[in-house]
Amino acid sequence: CGEQPLQGRKIIVTAGGTIEPLDPVRYLGNHSTGKMGYAIAAEAAKLGAEVLLVSGPSNLADPAGVKTVRIQTALEMQAAVQAAYAKADAVIMSAAVADYRPKTVAKDKIKKSDDELVLHLERNPDILYGLGQQKDKQILVGFAAETCNVEEYAKKKLSKKNLDFIVANDVSAKDAGFAVDNNRVQIYFRNGECEKYPLMSKQELAGIILNKIVEMM
Ligand code: C5P
Repeated sequence: CGEQPLQGRKIIVTAGGTIEPLDPVRYLGNHSTGKMGYAIAAEAAKLGAEVLLVSGPSNLADPAGVKTVRIQTALEMQAAVQAAYAKADAVIMSAAVADYRPKTVAKDKIKKSDDELVLHLERNPDILYGLGQQKDKQILVGFAAETCNVEEYAKKKLSKKNLDFIVANDVSAKDAGFAVDNNRVQIYFRNGECEKYPLMSKQELAGIILNKIVEMM
């Protein structure tokens, strides 16, 4: 079974994208598959942690030894994370949370017409920002998927969301990021340090992220 440095620790991991319904048959969504978060949850369980995985819709199977809760919307993800936050030792937010949701959800299927269709969207809460505001002993880890200015945006999010570290990647790269098994990241820490990693499997990256958390504990 190997070493279990996270024995007795409670870790919340979020994964996948949230989906925001428009009507009974349509939704707004994104390309996240959940691979990164599921790899982190599985690895954390192997290291002995009690893991709650809060996942948006994903084709991946529930990881062994992990309590998996499946949700659809950002508001549902927020409620599931909040319910477990007070007792958590660490939260790793790898989910691609929708920043906006349709202001109204049509009761019946929206019918097409010859006119333009205008959708009104309202802001979803920033779940991680909220956790950062209430932070007590929890180690908070965020992800920043960017298509440009990775360093600048990642550092801003680290500070604004009161995180311990943020894992940043350029999702415009074809060989890493969304929907593939590999990732190439930089990790930015509170003290201003940055570590750059080469292309590696999401499983290997999960191990690196969890080792950082073990060191901080
Ligand atoms: O979307 P953004 O780049 O700000 O995401 C950075 C981090 O914040 C990620 O870890 C993501 O899971 C989290 N986030 C969140 N709630 C949102 C948007 C992002 O918790 N509404």
